[in-house]
Formats: sequence, structure tokens, C-alpha cells
Amino acid sequence: MSIVFLNGDYMPVEQAKISPLDRGFLFGDGIYEVIPSYDGKKVGFQAHINRMNAGLKAIGIELNWLDSQWEMLCEQLSEKNGAGPLGIYLHVSRGTDNKRFHAFPENVTPTVFAMVFDIPIPNTPDLATIGNGYALTSSEDLRWQRCQIKSTALLGNVLHFQEGYQAGCQETLLYNSDNELTEASAANIFIVKNGVVITPPLDHQILPGITRRLVIDILMKDGSIKLEERVVTMKEVNNADEIWLTSSSKEISPVTMLDGKIVGDGKVGSVWLQAATLYSKNKFFY
Ligand SMILES: Cc1ncc(COP(=O)(O)O)c(C=O)c1O
Repeated sequence: MSIVFLNGDYMPVEQAKISPLDRGFLFGDGIYEVIPSYDGKKVGFQAHINRMNAGLKAIGIELNWLDSQWEMLCEQLSEKNGAGPLGIYLHVSRGTDNKRFHAFPENVTPTVFAMVFDIPIPNTPDLATIGNGYALTSSEDLRWQRCQIKSTALLGNVLHFQEGYQAGCQETLLYNSDNELTEASAANIFIVKNGVVITPPLDHQILPGITRRLVIDILMKDGSIKLEERVVTMKEVNNADEIWLTSSSKEISPVTMLDGKIVGDGKVGSVWLQAATLYSKNKFFY
């Protein structure tokens, strides 16, 4: 049975109840985080907590938990749920008001909820066993103008994800009205052309993914692969040798089909293998 945390207590998920007047429920008024944890070893813990604190500040939720409180919560949740490969989900909403009114209520206590879910076991990257890679559709990005905030209001992402899902794909790659790559509905995107790894720069159009950050830092430190953070056009995406998705649960995942066409030579690429190997060796140092 899954044990969750709600406002100070651990309990079976079936017993966790919130008011329908919680602003997370009514407005999606909250911030969330997902931290990957393998046998209790977390990846990018501090970066995840920093991003969550930045999100809470950006939308004016005052919580003031110490990093050590979050760490303890993550440790206890993973212990209570079996330590296996887990995504630790942290969620803070603005709290429960006594009415439905858009303005921030005064004197409400934020709701803090946390749970875990299974994530794939990260195998050693291997071209012989990796299989086919992901198939994606693409679509114009119709989400809001503040995608850098990891908001619990995910309807835009959900609708984009569903487009890909209904087309038999695992994700939807998104581009802006200037035909420039933004990200995917639940992951960041990298492309590879002539051995150079390229990813869009951080701005309001994309989430500052922690996996994206780790991949950049690990590749830069290693130095053997050239990397560029710059605007990427959809023409470049469509002519890429490789495309990767990055996220906390998917790590670096290769994409071999986009809009029904093969990416590069249709096989998982050699630069992916090099980057994924570096990532798997170094991810716990961040
Ligand atoms: C829209 C979006 N972009 C990017 C990411 C990847 O972020 P991270 O690497 O921190 O998991 C996610 C993860 O959920 C996401 O929802």
C-alpha cells in the first residue's frame, strides 16, 4: 500500500483527504517537484529544492521549510514505500480558503502533500538492448507565458501530451509561433547535428529541467562532446541526426520517430550512448 504525506502526517493514500476548497484543487494554484531516487540515493536533490523554492516565491506562497525538512520527508517516504527506483512527488498548494475567490486569501496555511511513484530502473546504456527509442508527434506550444514555473496547473501540458498519446506516441514535441523548439509536454529536448549537442536556452518558454542542467554540466565537465545552448528551429529539429528527451524519470531518452518520420538513420545514436553513459556514471555527484 502506498504511504503518502499530507500536512505533517504519513498515511495510506486512501486516507489522505483535502477540502474541495483547497486552491490547488480549484485553481491549480500550487507548485510541485519530482525528485528521482534510486535505493534511497537522490539525484539533484538541492537543485530540485531550489527550483521549488523559486516557484513558491514566484507565485507568492510562503512556506519556509528548511532544506533538511524536505530531505527528511524524502527519506522517510522512500523508506516507507520500499526504496526502489522512485519519483518523489512534492506538492505545495496555496492552501484552503473558505470561499472560491481568485485573490490570494490571507492567513491560510499552504497544503503540503507528497507521494512516490515507480520510475524505470536505469539500465546501463547499451545500443544492443535499448530497443527502438521514443516516437513523438509535434505541435505548436499553446501553454502559458510562464513555463519556467513548475506549476501544478498542467492542463496545457496534459492536452499536448494527450495529442501525442492519441497518435500512438509517447510524447509531444512543442514549438513556438516562430517555429522554434521549446520543449516537450513533460520533458526537455536536445538535438544532435554533426556531433554537436544543441538545446534551447532557458527562458519563459521552457521549464528549467534539472536533468537538462545535469546533462549540460556533465557534458561540459567531460569536454569530449561539443554543446550549444541556443535557439533551435524546427527545420533543425527535422534534420537532426539525433533527438533526446530529458526528464527526472526518463533520464536521457533517445527519440527515433518524429511525426511518423525516422530521426537520423532511425537508430538510437552514438552520441546518445556517450552522453547517457556519462550521465549514468555521474548523476549521483550532483
Ligand atoms: C514541461 C516539462 N519540461 C521539462 C521537464 C523535465 O524536468 P526535470 O528534468 O526537472 O524532470 C518536465 C518534467 O516533468 C516537464 O514537465
